[in-house]
Amino acid sequence: MAFTIKVNGTTHSVDVDGDTPLLWVLRDVLGMTGTKFGCGMALCGACTVHIDGAPTRSCVTSIDSVGTSEITTIEAIGTTAAGAKIQKAWLDLEVVQCGYCQSGQIMSASALLASNPRPTDADIDGAMSGNICRCGTYIRIREAIKQAAQSSRQGG
Ligand code: FES
Ligand code: FES
Repeated sequence: MAFTIKVNGTTHSVDVDGDTPLLWVLRDVLGMTGTKFGCGMALCGACTVHIDGAPTRSCVTSIDSVGTSEITTIEAIGTTAAGAKIQKAWLDLEVVQCGYCQSGQIMSASALLASNPRPTDADIDGAMSGNICRCGTYIRIREAIKQAAQSSRQGG
């Protein structure tokens, strides 16, 4: 069945079963492999994308539920104000270790910063608790979100 979806500002027509997870449409049909598969059960956060700005687990989001919503992936998050600040802070603080979880981490962190420019530690923990990192980069992730929030306040 054909579905028309909007990803990173571009409209795509894809011909897949309606229950196909958005993750596999992004990776296998559209070739956007920045979004990762970890658990397939909404437990790890590796597959996080934004749907109308909300962090969403694409592994459990069927393509027929997306409709005309705006999908943003790691490939384009740097074009958003919050995403650019998060990516800069990630690089400044060398957050990444193996990298596998990190596109999902950045998508969740960007959504947090876009909706809450002054997150408290509890806000950060709440927003990031569904993103698992086997390398244990949690401390640097928290510091990077704080730095990005600080740069937002300074207009940087
Ligand atoms: S792959 Fe989607 S939450 Fe783990
Ligand atoms: S950086 Fe390796 S799993 Fe998070």
